[in-house]
Amino acid sequence: MCGIVGFTGRREASPILLEGLRRLEYRGYDSAGLVTGTGNELHLRKKAGRLAELAKHLGMHPAPGCHGISHTRWATHGGATDRNSHPHLNERNDIALVHNGVIENFAALKHQLQSAGVRFRSDTDTEVLAHLISHYYHGDLATAVRQALALVKGTYGIAVIAKAEPGLIVGARLGSPLVVGVGEDGTYLASDANALAGFADKVVYLADRQICTLTETDWEIRDQDLAPVSVSVADIGNFLGNGDAEKGDFPHYMLKEIYEQPESLANAMRGRLANDDATAHFGGLNLSAQQLRQIDRVVMTACGTSYHAAMVGEYLFEELARVPVEVEYASEFRYRNPPMDRSTVVLALTQSGETADTLAALRESKRMGHTTLAICNAVASSIAREADGGVYLYAGPEIGVASTKAFTSQVCVLTMIALYLGRTRHLSSAQGQKIIDDLQAIPDAVRKALECHDHVNRVAAKYADARNVLYLGRQYLYPVALEGSLKLKEISYIHAEGYPAAEMKHGPIALVDENTPSVFLVPRGNVFDKVMSNMQEIKARGGPVIAIASAGDREVSAVADDVIPIPDVPEYLQPIVTAIPLQLLAYEIALLCGCDVDKPRNLAKSVTVE
Ligand code: F6R
Repeated sequence: MCGIVGFTGRREASPILLEGLRRLEYRGYDSAGLVTGTGNELHLRKKAGRLAELAKHLGMHPAPGCHGISHTRWATHGGATDRNSHPHLNERNDIALVHNGVIENFAALKHQLQSAGVRFRSDTDTEVLAHLISHYYHGDLATAVRQALALVKGTYGIAVIAKAEPGLIVGARLGSPLVVGVGEDGTYLASDANALAGFADKVVYLADRQICTLTETDWEIRDQDLAPVSVSVADIGNFLGNGDAEKGDFPHYMLKEIYEQPESLANAMRGRLANDDATAHFGGLNLSAQQLRQIDRVVMTACGTSYHAAMVGEYLFEELARVPVEVEYASEFRYRNPPMDRSTVVLALTQSGETADTLAALRESKRMGHTTLAICNAVASSIAREADGGVYLYAGPEIGVASTKAFTSQVCVLTMIALYLGRTRHLSSAQGQKIIDDLQAIPDAVRKALECHDHVNRVAAKYADARNVLYLGRQYLYPVALEGSLKLKEISYIHAEGYPAAEMKHGPIALVDENTPSVFLVPRGNVFDKVMSNMQEIKARGGPVIAIASAGDREVSAVADDVIPIPDVPEYLQPIVTAIPLQLLAYEIALLCGCDVDKPRNLAKSVTVE
């Protein structure tokens, strides 16, 4: 979603700002802009569309100066136009601001400002902040920012500059991340440390309600009353993913990340599986064995793909650990008030660690006194820092907007936590050891599953014209059916639905005709025969069937129109292996439809607004 980069130092700002924004492009945006300062002038440049548009504009109208702030915007209030792009200026054009988040009371504030004669130039919620800060500005930007923010309800990460204070950037955060970077050439501000890689050596994360001031050679972080606070400064390397953030030889990040899965799964397990006591160990869970035993219910909360991983987690925890689980969309859970007793643990799953709904659900659970845990990929993200304990995925940066390797790593980590919980309960050491052996074989199984790519290409070519696709699976593979359908719709814009295979008789089967293919998840397992019957029901109604099935399964190939083979693994690990062909299928169909796979329309990688 929106991104912020600021710089003040001894180099031209605009190339640094552009490069920083480029590194945040993957988060999703629809316009971009920057403003630089040269003593007596602010130079504003902004454009709807991709960063290339802004770069082109800057080619013709350079923005000079060694001090500036910049932004990629994902529209919330007002369309994606030049006018609505950030930065926004006050009426006198001497204060400029960029903003991530949402000002919830902007309508009331705007009304008050307009009644006082202020003229607005955009439809955004953000612009009220520029005018409010301007109202309080009497030569001290930090004080004006503080006074303006006191009136605001909502979330913000902001960066502000004033013409009269050359070299100064003021930042502030509430619910939207901001990080100060310190480098040889100057001082930086960003919404994500990834924007500062190669520029800054040290970083400092702001906490909510903190305000920072940056100059060419110095920085300071203060509380909301502008009193200095002590902070910890860390090496930037600690906060960047351990994977390569470039595409390498792959045409898209998504494909690279699909192919990284044998490695990302091995990373998730590295050092965590112990043969000695046939269990898993985690550095950051922060729970004693006694506390672990006392957990008698887990509520898992997440959004999107992470929600689907949580649904797999429900099956895993209940089967392997006999711990009851409920899975809740974070966006719903945060506003519900379900009865939960003290021993219920809330587990948030999130790749980015910044999803606004998941963060709010975690905070609400903490407020209610529950132990909160997180399974997270982005190191030092808001959720990773705020949960009582957690487990990192160590999957490396996931840049493709469609989540792939994070899903399989989440399922892998959930399996390890289920093993850990199970071993404090009924699982014998022999059963624990069997799970460890199964898990250790998974990277190779995924490597084998990736060999289905040629089959996937053939299937994609045959069905790329479909306008509706059904994804059907049962038990552990029902959430994978949901995930497969989400992958297809988000990157190819083809309508797809995931269902428990037997449930389609209760309505969705009405959609079946010769133009509506059904993707069946049907590897060998307990419900194999049942799923085969569901497949026959679709065939009987003329619907084409694509089966993801155990390699060489003749029974399946006798019924299905097309078969994509995958290796056999134990049932509880099938979600990991069956996800691979579904990711590849969505990718190949999207390419055939001419879609921009890594930057699908309307989507953002990290959804930092409600
Ligand atoms: C789907 C996708 C989204 C995210 C969702 C949650 O491919 O990427 O559905 O899974 O926005 O994001 P995180 O896991 O970062 O909380």
